[in-house]
Amino acid sequence: MNPSCATCPSLSAAWGNALPVPVGRMYRMSVRPRRVSARTSEPEEDDPVDETRRNFLKLVAVAGVIGAVGGGIGGALQYAGRPPTVGLSNYPSVQLQDVDGSLLTASKVMKEYNVTTPDALTFNYPLTNEPNLLINLAPPSGGSGGATHVKGGVGPSGSIVAFSGICQHLGCQVPSLAFYPPGTCPQSFGNQNFYIHCSCHGSTYDPTNGASNLTGPAVQPLPQVTLQWNSSDDSLWAVGMTGPTVLGHSNTLQGGTGVGSVSRLQQQSPVILCSFP
Ligand code: FES
Repeated sequence: MNPSCATCPSLSAAWGNALPVPVGRMYRMSVRPRRVSARTSEPEEDDPVDETRRNFLKLVAVAGVIGAVGGGIGGALQYAGRPPTVGLSNYPSVQLQDVDGSLLTASKVMKEYNVTTPDALTFNYPLTNEPNLLINLAPPSGGSGGATHVKGGVGPSGSIVAFSGICQHLGCQVPSLAFYPPGTCPQSFGNQNFYIHCSCHGSTYDPTNGASNLTGPAVQPLPQVTLQWNSSDDSLWAVGMTGPTVLGHSNTLQGGTGVGSVSRLQQQSPVILCSFP
């Protein structure tokens, strides 16, 4: 008789066939044969560590599957939201062409374009989505005004310069950003009444001094194209850029396609707005 359950009918009736286990204790039924002690020939207690290890291995397997699937989805989303970066590894040497496709010479620039030229002349460099303004600051032949031997200027008078055609404020481009010939607006800075001006919000840049800032809201100069004049054949080349990164690009060389070995001038009518902050 079970002394702890004398009034329990079910247990008292079947006590002789009852399992030798305490009442209230649950046992896991296993299909694995119970291990037998070699020393006593008695069954050994189930090793609870086996079950823990099994559960642990299950968790590792599930985590591996989740990680693999998650990594694949994450990688796909990464490339879906951000296209692969394209561009160039270094600045190319690019020969400039005139608007008609003929090779541009410094003599031609000095003859046909000068500080009074109203049209915006642009060429792309070093990427096809990076337009630049080409400006000859020299006065017309026999005239006065303008500027020669300026910072970064090339050609026989050191007056041919080029700057990014993308404003450093919020990125308005040529023809909203344009060179304003002398007297285009009443505004002047000292004796200088010609400048690069952005009609979007009024930023003004000095083309005689590396496109430094004359008025905001832009606080950085325009990137300047490094030009080279080959005096032996009079050709003009773009070979690099200095100053800040072209606005909208994490790197002036990245985010577009290279222009190739030549770049042709384009001619546009500027948007003129004499609005200064
Ligand atoms: S984008 Fe040129 S001044 Fe704002």
